[in-house]
Amino acid sequence: EKRSDFVVVANRLSVDRVVADDGSETWRTSPGGLVTALEPVMQSRRGSAWVGWPGSPDEELEPFVHDGIQLVPVSLSAQDVTEYYEGFSNATLWPLFHDGVAFPEYHREWWDAYVRVNRRFAEAAAAVAAEGAQVWVQDYQLLLVPRMLRTLRPDLYIGFFLHIPFPPMELFVQLPWRAEILDGLLGSDLVGFQIAGGASNFIHLVSERLGYPTGDDTVTLPDGRVCAARAYPISIPTQRFADLAADPAVQERAREIRAELDDPELLFLGVDRLDYTKGIKHRLRAFGELVTSGQLDPDRAAFLQVATPSRERVEEYKMLRDEIDRIVGRINGSVGRIGRQPVTYLHTHYPREEMVAMYSAADVMVVSPLRDGMNLVAKEYIACRRNGDGALVLSEFTGAADELSEWTYSINPYDINGMKATMLRAATDAPEERQRRMAALREQVFTHDIDRWAESFLADMG
Ligand code: G6P
Repeated sequence: EKRSDFVVVANRLSVDRVVADDGSETWRTSPGGLVTALEPVMQSRRGSAWVGWPGSPDEELEPFVHDGIQLVPVSLSAQDVTEYYEGFSNATLWPLFHDGVAFPEYHREWWDAYVRVNRRFAEAAAAVAAEGAQVWVQDYQLLLVPRMLRTLRPDLYIGFFLHIPFPPMELFVQLPWRAEILDGLLGSDLVGFQIAGGASNFIHLVSERLGYPTGDDTVTLPDGRVCAARAYPISIPTQRFADLAADPAVQERAREIRAELDDPELLFLGVDRLDYTKGIKHRLRAFGELVTSGQLDPDRAAFLQVATPSRERVEEYKMLRDEIDRIVGRINGSVGRIGRQPVTYLHTHYPREEMVAMYSAADVMVVSPLRDGMNLVAKEYIACRRNGDGALVLSEFTGAADELSEWTYSINPYDINGMKATMLRAATDAPEERQRRMAALREQVFTHDIDRWAESFLADMG
């Protein structure tokens, strides 16, 4: 069996298997920012391997090649999915690392499953990596893999990148397994974070809790090895989005979307995974108040909200879906009329072309997370504004705000009145002002794309 010099290890493979009603199979790009970001990086490194879970329980698949990437499936049982994925990853770590915006649950069986499954990923990576290979482990589902992998294969270069926020010490120390998790990460040569604050939270914790000597961005371990921790703000394949937005078929589709929405004068857009960290309720509430109070004319303004289904068996996500259904129904029921609904809400997965058409069609994009590691949707919107118009309303609690807030319409999503005022301002500012801001945003996103992100991380990893 062929071994690879470059291996990515992530909870999910880049593609999900979709089985149609007639039993035929196709592969579809997996949801979320991680896959969106890493797919182009892998495609430009032919022959590299991606170790991950194919996305449904009890799937035993042989390794296969897709779009030039060697995919190495790790199978999860139904119990693994419940305890490791839905449980420890998404009902313990996810809410805790996102400021505790939902209540993190701690269960010892979930932890046991997390350790067991992390070991399986480490073993799969150890089997596929060539001598001295670079192995790049991704995200909060696999925090223990760097240490496990180093024990199995001390010859490897091991990097880790956290796509979500790394919380302040006061929150992190709630974790009953905090020492094991820190030790897991310290198995890496380099740990990357979205923003400088994440890296400094990590260094501070290691110094305070483990007592290891630390520098500004390094930790010296008891065996003398050094682990570095730095910020590498992730990005998108900017030019690919721009090219797609320039495609005449996509432009035509953008015009059609506005027409199908009954040609609003002002179109707001929200695009997210359906997740409680994204502040979808808060933004709909703000828009709802603007149209019911008459500050925005419900006959002229429209909100298009796309929410991709996500983690649908986790309780918090089910509750959120119901709440959003209710909020949307309330707004449309009170200010809609026959043939005109101010909020169009779509709970489904769309191909990239359709998303780019939506970005091209919208006057104002509203990105309002309560906490978000980066938020790539904000960058995608910017990449698609080829005429240099449009406005981005962006929560100050996203990683993207660290880079972009100077030129976005910045909001605190908890402040509904503030958000309403800012949404109005974004919609009504002079065109020159909106263009000035968009030009600066485009400059930043075109010069800091995904290739630059990957190159700088991998160069530092050794
Ligand atoms: C975020 C996480 C990713 C995750 C994605 C989709 O972007 O950082 O690790 O893959 O959400 O979530 P899911 O649970 O469907 O993989």
